Order: sequence, then structure tokens, then C-alpha cells
Amino acid sequence: MSKEYQIIYISEKTGDFKPEKDLDKIVSSSFRNNNARDVTGVLMYNSGFFFQVIEGKKDDVIYTYNKIILDTRHQNVNLLTDREIENRSFENWPLALVKLNDMDLDVIDHVIAWNDLINDSRRKEPISQEKVDRLIEALRYKIDMDTISSKAA
Ligand SMILES: Cc1cc2nc3c(=O)[nH]c(=O)nc-3n(C[C@H](O)[C@H](O)[C@H](O)COP(=O)(O)O)c2cc1C
Repeated sequence: MSKEYQIIYISEKTGDFKPEKDLDKIVSSSFRNNNARDVTGVLMYNSGFFFQVIEGKKDDVIYTYNKIILDTRHQNVNLLTDREIENRSFENWPLALVKLNDMDLDVIDHVIAWNDLINDSRRKEPISQEKVDRLIEALRYKIDMDTISSKAA
């Protein structure tokens, strides 16, 4: 089996981005495009910052990333991770959307990692892979919990 590839970045919204309408637009075009290329991942938006994980075959991930960085709805795209991976973290999701405002206190770990990342990115400080991985784990947990509670409803 050939390896998979993963790109992770953090970026800042521009004045062109209106959360109420643009998040839905981004998710619907991403579902279509990412599905067609067998790309998966997660997009988190909070406090004017995006955090996105993009996974799949290397060419598809790079193609998708190169398109995203040209989007005028965000700026200061800070590439955090660019690596081969054994397994995807969000294999069932063309693009899972997480809005951090909805977070419960039981995932407080997630919030701490997020604030750290935003502050480091603002100060242009290096961001450790360990912090990025902690956030990925918290997002996986959050998506699982949401899926369980929507099935139970
Ligand atoms: C923060 C952010 C994340 C995005 N993520 C994706 C993505 O994962 N996949 C994708 O196809 N487009 C993504 N987009 C949208 C692209 O920039 C672009 O608008 C879209 O791919 C155009 O789709 P179309 O060529 O089908 O019209 C993202 C945009 C932003 C601002």
C-alpha cells in the first residue's frame, strides 16, 4: 500500500469571509471536490482563525492545498505539517466542520491547544507537532461524540 500524505495549516480570515454564509459554501464545494479526489480532513473555525487537516494521496493533497491558499477569504496561511502518514485521522470525512463555539467543557484540552496555536501563529513562533497532534486527537474525539449523539437523537 502506498503511503498517504497529510497537510495541516492555520490561517486567518480576511474581510471577504462572512462566517454565516461562507462556511456553508466552503463545506459544500469541499464535499464535492474532496470526494472526487478521495481527500478527507477537518476544518475548524474559531476566533477568526482556520485550522485545516487535508489527507489523501500526495498529488491530491497538494493540488487541494494549492487551490485553498489562493482563496481570498483567508490570509497568512501558516503551514504546520507536511508529511507522509500511515493512516488518515479523518478517513470518513471529505471535510468535517468543527465550530469551536459549540464545544463543551469536557473537551477543554482542545480549547487550550487551540488558544496556544492561535497565539503562536500570531507571534510567528514555531508550532510543535505535539501541539498539532493534541488538537487532532481532540477533534477526532469531538467528531466521534457528535456522531454518537446525532445517532442517538
Ligand atoms: C479555509 C478554507 C478551506 C477550504 N478547504 C477546501 C477543501 O478542503 N477543498 C476544496 O475543494 N476547497 C476548499 N476551499 C475552497 C477553495 O478555496 C475553492 O473556493 C473551491 O475549491 C472552489 O471550488 P470549485 O472549483 O468547485 O468552484 C477552502 C477555502 C477556505 C477559505
